[in-house]
Amino acid sequence: MIKERTFLAIKPDGVQRGYIAEIIGRFEKKGFKLVGLKQLIPSKQLAQDHYGVHRERPFFKDLVEFISSGPVVAMIWEGEGVILSARKLIGPTKPLDAEPGTIRGDLAIDIGRNIIHGSDGEETAKFEINLWFDKHEICDWETSDSEWRSEN
Ligand code: RTP
Ligand code: MG
Repeated sequence: MIKERTFLAIKPDGVQRGYIAEIIGRFEKKGFKLVGLKQLIPSKQLAQDHYGVHRERPFFKDLVEFISSGPVVAMIWEGEGVILSARKLIGPTKPLDAEPGTIRGDLAIDIGRNIIHGSDGEETAKFEINLWFDKHEICDWETSDSEWRSEN
C-alpha cells in the first residue's frame, strides 16, 4: 500500500500563542504518524512558492509577509486518508465558519490568523513536502502498535 502523507504547518500565530503541543497532540490522538518535524522562519521566497496559487489574490502580499514573520512548525504526517482527514480536523479557512471541535473552530477568529496550514490534495501534498523538506529530514518508521491503527 502506498503511504499517504500530508504537509501541515503551524503558522506564526499558532506558535506565538503557544499551541504547538495542542496541535501536534490532536494529530497524534487521531492516530496519524509524524514523519517530519522542524521549526523555521520561512524566507519570503519559500512563503511565495508555498502560496504560489494565490499569487494574483489581493491578500497574497499580506499572507506572505505574515507566514515569513516568525517561526513556523513544518510537519509531515502519514496515515490512511490523512490529507482529507487533516483538513477536517483543521476546519474551514474562515475560523468563524469552523465548527467547535476543529482546530480553527476552537482556537481562532480571524481568516488571516487561522493557526495552521494543511495540504488540500494529493498533488499539493507532494509539492509542499518537497518544497519544505529535504529527503534526509523525513523519518520512515513504523509504530509498534501500527496493527491497532488501521486494518492494513
Ligand atoms: P491554508 O492554505 O493556509 O491551509 O488555508 P486554506 O487552504 O484553508 O485557504 P486558502 O484558500 O488556501 O488560503 C490560504 C490562506 O490565505 C488567507 N486568506 N485570506 N482575506 C481573505 O479573503 C483570505 N482568503 C484566504 C488565509 O489565511 C488562508 O489560510
Ligand atoms: Mg490552502
